[in-house]
Amino acid sequence: MQSGMNPWSSNQTVDVDRLFAEFGIEPVGEVARGLPEVPPFMRRGVVVGHRDYGLIADAIRNRTPFHVLTGFMPSGLPHLGHLMVMKEVVWHVRQGGNGYVAIADREAHAVRGISWEKCREYGKEYLKALYALGFCGTTYYQSRNDRLKDLAFEASTKVNFSELTAIYGFGPETSLSHAVSVVTQVADILFPQLDAGPAPTVVPVGLDQDPHIRLTRDVAYKLRMFTVEDRGDHISVRSKNAPEAALEAVHRTFSGSKKYAGHVDVTGVPMARIEDAVRGIEIARGGFGFYLPSSTYHIFMPGLQGGKMSSSVPESLFGFYEPEPSVRKKIMGALTGGRMTLEEQKRLGGEPGACPVFLLNLFHMLEDDRELADLRRRCEGGELTCGQCKKETYERVQAFLRELRDKMDAVEHLAEEV
Ligand code: TRP
Repeated sequence: MQSGMNPWSSNQTVDVDRLFAEFGIEPVGEVARGLPEVPPFMRRGVVVGHRDYGLIADAIRNRTPFHVLTGFMPSGLPHLGHLMVMKEVVWHVRQGGNGYVAIADREAHAVRGISWEKCREYGKEYLKALYALGFCGTTYYQSRNDRLKDLAFEASTKVNFSELTAIYGFGPETSLSHAVSVVTQVADILFPQLDAGPAPTVVPVGLDQDPHIRLTRDVAYKLRMFTVEDRGDHISVRSKNAPEAALEAVHRTFSGSKKYAGHVDVTGVPMARIEDAVRGIEIARGGFGFYLPSSTYHIFMPGLQGGKMSSSVPESLFGFYEPEPSVRKKIMGALTGGRMTLEEQKRLGGEPGACPVFLLNLFHMLEDDRELADLRRRCEGGELTCGQCKKETYERVQAFLRELRDKMDAVEHLAEEV
């Protein structure tokens, strides 16, 4: 696999450092410092990387428009593993982002063979969970969004088979619908800008989805009519495939600009103003004026029994409506970072860094940083036994799930309407 990652593989191990080095994902530390409020998922090292998140941090700080979009493939019921992205989207909406969520039923049907009926049934549960967690904004099913499908077609004019092979390892036996679901995801990521106008867009995803982000950035660039380049003493607006009338419109917008074959040079106008004007001109002439999408990448929580969290391993996770005795059993039976004997545990302390139960608290169940630090201290100091910790963790999970279910029931009508 040339890309080093297959978003559809059920057995992924992502090597974070290699991804950073090879594909230019940036570590999140520095941009996080530009935020007025650093969210728990960045503070706690869950979100590890990003592309172009500086644009989003600026928009949050300056209260300028930005979009946030993610998508869920309804191949089964939503569960613990989906919570992180949901929380990231909700957080960005609270920071002023214009929220979008796609239910990727085309992908689930094409790649996993899920019936349309099941897609709808599962999709509704994702939407209920999102609304229950505080999401507000636009949600849609891929298969029912005509403008999305037109945008996917437009995107497909910029993608060829050799790229699909290079990025995803597609071969002669790959179903065409799989390729369609790829360009549909590209369209998802660009859809907020089509729907509500060009603006920076952040796409919170797991590291496995980076190939889609790279492809979308590539397509967004190719769909632009112009590039705007800072040449030091002037700014050059260069046509990539702009109609002559669009180039003329750029020239007319900036008095004193000089028009050449294929570019217009402007002096004395700030870059940002030129970029905005050029976007407006593109849109007026049937273009899109897209910003390249930004992204954040989170690491995955391990399964409760250690190993990978996956719906194909039921003990590794719990669903939002799973009966309490079953959730309790999974947590009480979870792998921990505890020692072989109680005596050793007291003497050496536990190892929270490698403990699925501690990570469950770190990812989701303990919002207060002091309480989390206290849990770590009691564990490492040998003060807390794994049995006691699991009991306390289960109580938090139980309270969390009860509240979530109540809210999910209460917002069912919102999910119905989509
Ligand atoms: N491919 C994603 C998954 O498997 C789902 C998805 C569809 C998505 N469209 C998206 C994710 C747009 C992020 C942005 O889970």
